[in-house]
Amino acid sequence: MAQVFSPVSNTIAKVAMLGLVVGPLSTLVVGSAITRSPYNTNVGTPLAQPVPFSHEHHAVELGIDCRYCHNYVEKSPNPGLPSTQICMSCHSQIWTDSPLIAPIRRSYRDNQPVVWNRLNWLPRFVYFPHDIHIARGISCNNCHGPIQHMMITYKAKAFWMSFCLNCHRQPSKFLAPRKDVWKLYRDVQRYGYKKQVGEPGEPDYRPGLTAREYALAQGEYWENQGKDLVVGEQLKRDYHIHSVQLTNCSVCHH
Ligand code: HEC
Ligand code: HEC
Ligand code: HEC
Ligand code: HEC
Ligand code: HEC
Repeated sequence: MAQVFSPVSNTIAKVAMLGLVVGPLSTLVVGSAITRSPYNTNVGTPLAQPVPFSHEHHAVELGIDCRYCHNYVEKSPNPGLPSTQICMSCHSQIWTDSPLIAPIRRSYRDNQPVVWNRLNWLPRFVYFPHDIHIARGISCNNCHGPIQHMMITYKAKAFWMSFCLNCHRQPSKFLAPRKDVWKLYRDVQRYGYKKQVGEPGEPDYRPGLTAREYALAQGEYWENQGKDLVVGEQLKRDYHIHSVQLTNCSVCHH
């Protein structure tokens, strides 16, 4: 991981930020820096993992809540990955002979954590807190795509600065009631069905999902309209969100 948070990117950022203040030349500096950003590669490509863990199996078919494994997602900036103990709470009883789970059993026996390959990450000069976004009803799928259907996890979005700013500039187009973050997955389980062998395509849904849920479940881009936008605007007022402040450089870079 050391090379990933390279001091060079940090220097580039500092120099480029200074550039932005200084003048139009900066556009070139930032532009050329962005094309080299290593943290925005591998979108859509699963990485090899020690165990082929399926979110589809666990989160949808078994209906395990995200928070059972990503314990801190509501409570801290970092959601955390599950410990071996969490996997073993079931796998000491289920599929105990599966060779696929051998690395988990070994980890448990040797008391050595499983090292998962990290898919989503930002450079060190960007601050991103999970808890605040979840508290505002921003869906995991806004940023992680159709995560609940992934058989092997992949990175769904490039986290360009513009991706973050698009929402920070107009939050009411994305805000939703807090409980909807979790309702999405219950509804996907309830109203989704797997196409039969021979039928083309991904899992589909019976009527029951709202338009917003449908788009998010598929990992599509969604902006609130109509009724959803009225709710979004009300929530923006309730939370006293000022989009001007939300786009301050110092919000994400300090
Ligand atoms: C049974 C445990 C479990 C549950 C439930 C679970 N996850 Fe995960 N999740 C994992 C494990 C293990 C990894 C690391 C391996 C991988 O990337 O597949 C992971 C990885 C991820 C990642 C990618 C992390 C990275 O490397 O950047 C995201 C995003 C994620 N989970 C979101 C979710 C969401 C959203 C839900 C609920 C719909 C959820 N997870 C439910 C165990 C779980
Ligand atoms: C709440 C119980 C539960 C937890 C917690 C759980 N699993 Fe599972 N897991 C299951 C069940 C049940 C199956 C069988 C699913 C099926 O085939 O439909 C399964 C299947 C699997 C499989 C496929 C096994 C095979 O041979 O096809 C893998 C791999 C796996 N789990 C890994 C993990 C990992 C890694 C963790 C921890 C991050 C984890 N599981 C946590 C219940 C759980
Ligand atoms: C507004 C965008 C956004 C939302 C919403 C969001 N995430 Fe993330 N997630 C990110 C970013 C960005 C990263 C990389 C963070 C970093 O490197 O600091 C990340 C990283 C992760 C990781 C990897 C953490 C690690 O230590 O390896 C997991 C797991 C994860 N997210 C789970 C979730 C879950 C579960 C939810 C919903 C409850 C969620 N995320 C909602 C943007 C988001
Ligand atoms: C879909 C909408 C959305 C996206 C995408 C998004 N954010 Fe946010 N972000 C919000 C909202 C809403 C808040 C909460 C504002 C509030 O309550 O004052 C927020 C707050 C924050 C805060 C402020 C926390 C604080 O201390 O007040 C930071 C930092 C932040 N976001 C970083 C990021 C970064 C970095 C990204 C891109 C990787 C990102 N956000 C993507 C909606 C979003
Ligand atoms: C909502 C969060 C957010 C805000 C606000 C924000 N940035 Fe960023 N910034 C990011 C993210 C995420 C990245 C990394 C992704 C990328 O390179 O686009 C980044 C990267 C950068 C980079 C480095 C580009 C590179 O590839 O090395 C510079 C320079 C920068 N930001 C300057 C600014 C300036 C100047 C402002 C204020 C006008 C600002 N940022 C406001 C999220 C934000």
